[in-house]
Amino acid sequence: MAKAKNIFYCKECGTETGKWQGQCPGCGEWNTLVEAPDTGAPGRKTGTGAARAGQAEPAKLKDITIENEHRMMTGIGELDRVLGGGIVAGSLVLVGGDPGIGKSTLLLQMCKMLSDQGEKILYVSGEESLKQIKLRGDRIGEFSDSIYLLSETNISAIDHAIGKIQPVVVIVDSIQTMYDERIDAAPGSISQVREITSILLRIAKSRGISIFIVGHVTKEGNVAGPRMLEHMVDTVLYFEGDSAAAYRILRGVKNRFGSTNEIGVFEMKGKGLVEVPNPSEYMMQGKPVGESGSVVACAVEGTRSFMIEVQALVCHTYFNMPRRTAAGTDYNRINLLIAVLEKRLGIRLSDSDAYVNVAGGMRITEPALDLAIITAIMSSHSGRAMDDRTVIFGEVGLVGEVRAVPQAEKRVAEAMKTGYQTCILPEANKKMMEKGGGLDLSGIRLVGIRNIRELADQICMNIT
Ligand code: TYD
Ligand code: MG
Repeated sequence: MAKAKNIFYCKECGTETGKWQGQCPGCGEWNTLVEAPDTGAPGRKTGTGAARAGQAEPAKLKDITIENEHRMMTGIGELDRVLGGGIVAGSLVLVGGDPGIGKSTLLLQMCKMLSDQGEKILYVSGEESLKQIKLRGDRIGEFSDSIYLLSETNISAIDHAIGKIQPVVVIVDSIQTMYDERIDAAPGSISQVREITSILLRIAKSRGISIFIVGHVTKEGNVAGPRMLEHMVDTVLYFEGDSAAAYRILRGVKNRFGSTNEIGVFEMKGKGLVEVPNPSEYMMQGKPVGESGSVVACAVEGTRSFMIEVQALVCHTYFNMPRRTAAGTDYNRINLLIAVLEKRLGIRLSDSDAYVNVAGGMRITEPALDLAIITAIMSSHSGRAMDDRTVIFGEVGLVGEVRAVPQAEKRVAEAMKTGYQTCILPEANKKMMEKGGGLDLSGIRLVGIRNIRELADQICMNIT
């Protein structure tokens, strides 16, 4: 009998090799190759080249017609938007996030909404017993009789149940608990996760049903370790948020059927997740008034803009190495902006600790926040508070120049809507907006600046 062959593949990028190597030939990462039995993933060993030659018929792009793509609205507006306008039939969606963040709750709520519309749903859980799911369901509300529950971890049994019930949407909670008995590896291992995903992909495409896979995130922030899962599925949604804060952000990081970087905002309440249609109002709750180190900026994620509070605390250090921390934003960016402040404005920060925080626990890394971060640091350093009705955004370059940012109009519109009276923004953006004329700017005073020296003059701070 032929000896079962093992292959090695990379936990990060999924590259396969026949022998072990210290460094992955695909992505160059070290110590990421792991051994697994060769299970013949789809696309491999499906016949010899000679047998298939002549079968492949390329079609003309022009001749391909698209029937009206069927999308099912879940009725949860925030989720529909992140999905790109509802659920696409035959799609495989991965919902990732830390344990306990609310993935099962969100999907069960989605099932409830769909089953209320009369759609047949199958919820497969490998983590919880039927009673536990029922208990969660009771918190969410009454369920109609078109939703089926299955507590199972064997993929063949799940496949069989799908064939029997014929649902339109299936939830698999979670991928790490499922196994295929033909593979000699523990559930949650790379070979199992990969195989189960490819089986689910086949089921989704062949039956035209939508499958949602729940995946827990590892310490490194990857779903189940391997990135390969992400490129096997059609859509990847991450559920994130501060476990201490009640709100949750659903972020689309990949979407074959819509735009990415779209976000949905939810709040975890006693009766499940509740949509937050106006995140600006939510993020501004509890903002201190008249305190130094607090600045309002406007961020854009996908098609949404919202106000956000940036805080900084600058205080004298008693150590040789000043401390710098960044919560909710990029640490390296903070260091860079502090260096720009020191060099271009002569503000001495080498003897001060600096802590920067995007309040509310949201993570925003777009450079449009630079100007607000710089202002917050200057405000905390000087002990002077910023005007409460002013919003600031703009990117700062290494020479201290203030550069234009995308979607300025959207940010200004959001500031006006939320009731801000002044907006400090890059001069280039201001010029474009005044020329473009798409937005009625009578309700807000725009202050265009070209560099951070002008910013310092504008906000009248005693900066040295
Ligand atoms: P869960 O959805 O099980 O998270 P995940 O599937 O991502 O691991 O649970 C989320 C948390 O939310 C859990 O700690 C309990 C809490 N929760 C509420 O606060 N309100 C509710 O109505 C429900 C159902 C859960
Ligand atoms: Mg769960």
